[in-house]
Amino acid sequence: MQNKLPEYSIKDINLFKIGRYKVLWALQHMPVVNYLRNIYSKEKIFKGYRIGACLHITSETANLILNFKKAGAEVYLCASNPLSTQDEVAAYLVKQGISVFGKRNESSEEYYKNIENVAKTMPHFIIDDGGDLITFVHQNQKYIRNVIGATEETTTGVIRLKNLYNQKLLKFPIIAVNNAKTKYLFDNRYGTGQSTVDGLLRATNILIAGKTVVVCGYGWCGKGIAQRFKGMGGKVIVVEIDPIRALEAIMDGFSVMSINKASKIGDIFITATGNTSVITMKEIKKMKEGVILGNSGHFNVEIRMDEIEKNTLRKRIIRDGLTEYFLKTGKKIFILGEGRLLNLACAEGHPPEVMDMSFANQFLSIKFLKENPYMEINVHNVPEEIDKQVAKYKLNTMNVKIDSLTKIQKKYLSSWELGTL
Ligand SMILES: NC(=O)c1ccc[n+]([C@@H]2O[C@H](COP(=O)([O-])OP(=O)(O)OC[C@H]3O[C@@H](n4cnc5c(N)ncnc54)[C@H](O)[C@@H]3O)[C@@H](O)[C@H]2O)c1
Repeated sequence: MQNKLPEYSIKDINLFKIGRYKVLWALQHMPVVNYLRNIYSKEKIFKGYRIGACLHITSETANLILNFKKAGAEVYLCASNPLSTQDEVAAYLVKQGISVFGKRNESSEEYYKNIENVAKTMPHFIIDDGGDLITFVHQNQKYIRNVIGATEETTTGVIRLKNLYNQKLLKFPIIAVNNAKTKYLFDNRYGTGQSTVDGLLRATNILIAGKTVVVCGYGWCGKGIAQRFKGMGGKVIVVEIDPIRALEAIMDGFSVMSINKASKIGDIFITATGNTSVITMKEIKKMKEGVILGNSGHFNVEIRMDEIEKNTLRKRIIRDGLTEYFLKTGKKIFILGEGRLLNLACAEGHPPEVMDMSFANQFLSIKFLKENPYMEINVHNVPEEIDKQVAKYKLNTMNVKIDSLTKIQKKYLSSWELGTL
């Protein structure tokens, strides 16, 4: 079994030392993950189990992976995006005895090879972000034999896996970690909101105040992105296809219009829809000279990079994470992180405080699958007791006490007659 990638020489003290400090710093802001580590590393509850994970290789992920290792599991990790791996974190994990298959800026071929490397370890549990590892073992069933169940981290992955289930092809139960309230209300909203602004700033260092920012998609990610750009003085326009979410955006104080109209006005465009072809050459032709385009949705299909490439005379990288495209039409545009999720490609992804809750859900959901190995083959939500438990742990670590229902309140809420006190 490959235990480390040749790219990561453990003699490279500096690389893994930087990684170590980053991982420890993140852990200080992940008290729930740390709490679970302290409990379950004593009990070694995953002894004898192999876990295959396909996640963004960041400091926060490292802490989740170390939790499983310390709880007795053998863990194999590959990246869930070719541009999101933090090499110093990967090097640190290798030093800790984790098999890591992934490096920053890997080719598409290397990316899928690394997914296969993890599949080859015949995992008992899979942790996925986007569905690539789970779909890979379904397409290559020789690797599926031992899988008891899996978890999925993101909206796009949950949609793909529900489609697999609807086509009667799903072979093991999935827990949709994304659908836990302690995940999407915080990670998707505040995490993607802040880290998308962070990615744009690191790649451009421009002033947001006074700029017109078009946010495509007003789901949990879009809400966070719109809110944060507004907070920094941006004039935010929302583009939606769902009438209810469009109304929500209006009442939250944003302008809402079609992509056609917004294309002519925006300075910065951010997609977060989980859909394809939101910005194509048709829209780009209407845009102003020098616009900045970025995507925070899971896959790099929201902005049609293939169309842009075909319509480009030449391009150049002008800063880390920022490419200038000279289009055949004579216009130039700027693309963040090659159209891949920019909060990870141009920054470091979500802050540890929100990943603390997402990854506590991951850890407890894999534990739940282990304790309930004969769950119906379907895409399940995270059990409510786990979701609530994560919220309680988080509040405890923040030293926040909340009230509970009094007897009289419980009785009132469970009655139907008027006049019950
Ligand atoms: N960058 C990150 O770190 C990160 C974190 C979490 C989720 N995600 C990804 O971000 C994407 C969005 O996730 P979410 O949780 O906000 O999903 P969501 O389902 O809550 O929201 C998506 C919204 O986009 C809208 N939409 C769909 N097609 C559209 C179109 N053509 N034009 C305008 N709006 C359109 C939908 O109506 C919906 O309101 C997914 O791909 C998800 O996997 C990324």
